[in-house]
Amino acid sequence: FLAVEIDPQRIAMRIKTRYLDVMETDLDAALAKVMKAKAQGQALSVGLVGNAADVIPELARRRVAVDVLTDQTSAHDPLTGYIPQGLSLEDAAKLRASDPQEYVRRAMASMAVHVRAMLDLQKQGAVTFDYGNNIRTMAFQAGVKDAYDFPGFVPAYIRPLFCEGKGPFRWAALSGEASDIHATDAAVLELFPKDKGLARWIKMAQERVAFQGLPARICWLGLGERAEMGLRINHMVAKGRLKAPIVIGRDHLDCGSVASPYRETEA
Ligand SMILES: NC(=O)c1ccc[n+]([C@@H]2O[C@H](COP(=O)([O-])OP(=O)(O)OC[C@H]3O[C@@H](n4cnc5c(N)ncnc54)[C@H](O)[C@@H]3O)[C@@H](O)[C@H]2O)c1
Repeated sequence: FLAVEIDPQRIAMRIKTRYLDVMETDLDAALAKVMKAKAQGQALSVGLVGNAADVIPELARRRVAVDVLTDQTSAHDPLTGYIPQGLSLEDAAKLRASDPQEYVRRAMASMAVHVRAMLDLQKQGAVTFDYGNNIRTMAFQAGVKDAYDFPGFVPAYIRPLFCEGKGPFRWAALSGEASDIHATDAAVLELFPKDKGLARWIKMAQERVAFQGLPARICWLGLGERAEMGLRINHMVAKGRLKAPIVIGRDHLDCGSVASPYRETEA
């Protein structure tokens, strides 16, 4: 996995919380690492310091064999969420304050370059999708007429799960104790032993996702299963098997996504 991120501090944070394994500042070095890991069948997450509008076109130019491609910059807000090409973080902050219109113009132009390169990589075989950050619309407005040639993630992946009644389900331990989440992890695995994907995820989340704030867990459960898991948690609290109550949350995806036509709800 190769993540391109302009801010090294963001990469450092993700290494601390175990989402990423290593940071690189050089594209050749980063590619050598991910390709070696891929050849060896090992999972490795590399955070490359760089501007996506520079790096994605370079990947396309080199015809790097990308399996899956998306973008998770905050492209929905061109003034604060996307760093234009050619600017350091400091220079971007200065331009944002001194000339916001020019900043937005440059951010949109960079997003056009970025999305054109995503379309090129898609043509080269990368499974490409919009993650709900509106980058296709920004690029379209900046002149990329085929920006919508790659799909949004809801129609591509989430809606079929909704058709089966599957949705996100998440909970947090008010005790602040990791052991409470580990007890609920065990409960979810015991309740749904046939769900191999769920078992794989829970095990991986325990290894890879560091708790931040209150210990919490998310997973996807089917119609009826969410109620079953809720009742099990209730029972565990009532019997004193957990140190404190659990808060169960829902996700905006649960109600069929958000009302944002070009980001998530489009057909
Ligand atoms: N589909 C969903 O359910 C869903 C869920 C969460 C977030 N989102 C969307 O995804 C986007 C990202 O969300 P987030 O919370 O991670 O935002 P965030 O602002 O915390 O992270 C975006 C990152 O992009 C980096 N960045 C900005 N411009 C860049 C560039 N040109 N090149 C490389 N890196 C650049 C920033 O430094 C930042 O670290 C948002 O648009 C958000 O609305 C969608």
